Amino acid sequence: MKNRFYITTPIYYVNAEPHLGHAYSTVITDVQNRFHKLRGEETFFLTGTDEHGDKIVQAAEKQGTDPKTYADRISSLFRESWPLLDIEPDRFIRTTEPEHVATVQRILQDVYDRGDIVFREYEGLYCFGCERFYMERELEDGKCPDHGTVPVRLKEKNYFFLMSRYQDWLIDHIKKHPLFITPERYRNEVLSFLKDPLDDLCISRPVSRLTWGIPLPFDDKFVTYVWFDALINYLTGLGYPDGPNFSKFWPVTEHVIAKDILKPHGIYWPTMLKAIGLKPYKRLHVHGYWQIRDQKMSKSLGNIVRPRDLVESFGVDATRYCLMQEMVFGLDAGFSEKSFLLRINADLANDLGNLVSRTLAMVRKYVNGEVPAPQDPEGVEKELREAALRLVPVWEKTMESFAMHRAMQAVWEVINKANKVIDTSAPWVLAKDPAKAGQLRNVLYTLLESLRIISILVAPVMPSTAGKMQEAIGLDPQEDLNLDAARRWGILTPGTKTSRIPSLFPRLETGKTKDKKEVKKETVSENAGKQVSFEDFQQIDLRVAKITAAERVPKADRLMKLNVHCPEERTIVAGIAEHFSPEDLIGRQVVVVANLKPVKIRGVRSEGMLLVAKDDKGLHLTTVATPAESGAKVS
Ligand code: MSP
Repeated sequence: MKNRFYITTPIYYVNAEPHLGHAYSTVITDVQNRFHKLRGEETFFLTGTDEHGDKIVQAAEKQGTDPKTYADRISSLFRESWPLLDIEPDRFIRTTEPEHVATVQRILQDVYDRGDIVFREYEGLYCFGCERFYMERELEDGKCPDHGTVPVRLKEKNYFFLMSRYQDWLIDHIKKHPLFITPERYRNEVLSFLKDPLDDLCISRPVSRLTWGIPLPFDDKFVTYVWFDALINYLTGLGYPDGPNFSKFWPVTEHVIAKDILKPHGIYWPTMLKAIGLKPYKRLHVHGYWQIRDQKMSKSLGNIVRPRDLVESFGVDATRYCLMQEMVFGLDAGFSEKSFLLRINADLANDLGNLVSRTLAMVRKYVNGEVPAPQDPEGVEKELREAALRLVPVWEKTMESFAMHRAMQAVWEVINKANKVIDTSAPWVLAKDPAKAGQLRNVLYTLLESLRIISILVAPVMPSTAGKMQEAIGLDPQEDLNLDAARRWGILTPGTKTSRIPSLFPRLETGKTKDKKEVKKETVSENAGKQVSFEDFQQIDLRVAKITAAERVPKADRLMKLNVHCPEERTIVAGIAEHFSPEDLIGRQVVVVANLKPVKIRGVRSEGMLLVAKDDKGLHLTTVATPAESGAKVS
């Protein structure tokens, strides 16, 4: 039977749009999922959105809409962001799905029937931002450590999950399973928290205070507290209790989270599972925080970095690579576009990109573009072969322990060795001497085989690069991209045709990124006071355009494809489909940026940008007060 692997991301609150932090957790999860697939395992990858609770009600109110409409909109932003980063979950779950609601209610009823949920009066300090009660000792200067606000004293009757019953069991379990929570610092943090007696967990909110939640099956005057609801998603996602995926994958569950939600995952969740009568998850992987200039990323600070912006600036595989390399798993890291760019130029354009293009060029030039027949390797090429083969177990071990940056470093040592082999063996010299033809074939074969192994080991992080490398050396990624093939030498058959491919990672210009888009901002507030010269402004070609046709882009909730007349016909893809219907748009005169570089969005070429104004009420088209000629210049 195949080994199995089940991995999850946190389900993200829909009170904010997806950003770098969410992207990081989700990319790691995808990388790990691909790693296990590469090993031939049967895998399941779950992600989704967490949609109940006060926070969502408040965010919806701010936007002047109801929680369901609001949650639908933000949830689809998350769902649409992941393919942009080549993230391929098996299931995207929403806590508002009927299946999840039924699972939560079923579990609540079971735990209640077993006597682990009781009704009690409670008086305590409640933070509305966190939606939870705090103990005095958890506060900082009497204030909530997350929100900096003074909690309100509340007295109310609520349902409690008797978490304290399972405290000793949990301590024992963590002590017996050193890898239950990793890295170790987070395991220690949980153990240290467990030194004090655990409080029971309040799991309900009266409907008088909150209606946007799952009603308790045994008392309809209450809804479920968000964490009890949210954590259960990991079971619903597998079809608990009877679905075939549940029995297959639950025993091999691994969760990825950041340190902010360690307590719910390290304490509430295993005790809940114990009360439900299930085995705890296998491992919890906890990572640190991405910060921007030493600050937490947040909408209110206006320093959000969006996944879409990263992909536009750097490309998909390069973004994934930088995310894995720029943060040591478990520690915090500072984000800067400049360090991404330097890393891409050094590691990807120089080291890997050059190795691929130099090797292929020499194979074309000296051996007719075909995999050459090797003799027994000797000297430098023998060393490279051994280094490539030694790399695989090291890589596998580091990937397994979530040290993705170390795994990549190990691969880069071999890439650098291969580049050195080219310099020291100088195939261009060997090619001139017919007596050295055997050695030339050895060097080129060894380089091609090393590239083959490297392509497999970069595949979880850079799937499309791996595929391109394989095709270039005449392999079929469907068949040849697997870890067994990386453990073996000599898979390339002499005589196989190699092919020319475009540069894998063109060098990025340093000045450009640094000045223009150091960090993309959520709002324009930072640019508001910034001045541009008239010459700079004049470079932007603004024109009046008439919308002649509009249709939604399939499977992309936000995107609308527009045909505009300005005066030539062109297509523009605009992210406005959640605010306008095609009928609102056809026939309208709008203002567009006409000289924006064309880009492909969801396979559609977009040749310009529609200008819209944005405020709390939504989007507003920019137009002209009286009818103008299509194509009239706006200045
Ligand atoms: N809905 C809860 C999780 C429930 S899981 C059963 C939640 N949602 S969240 O939207 O706030 O997401 C928190 C998670 O997003 C973090 O644990 C982490 O995975 C990711 N990140 C959000 N900001 C982050 C950074 N700045 N840096 C790294 N990861 C971050 O909590």
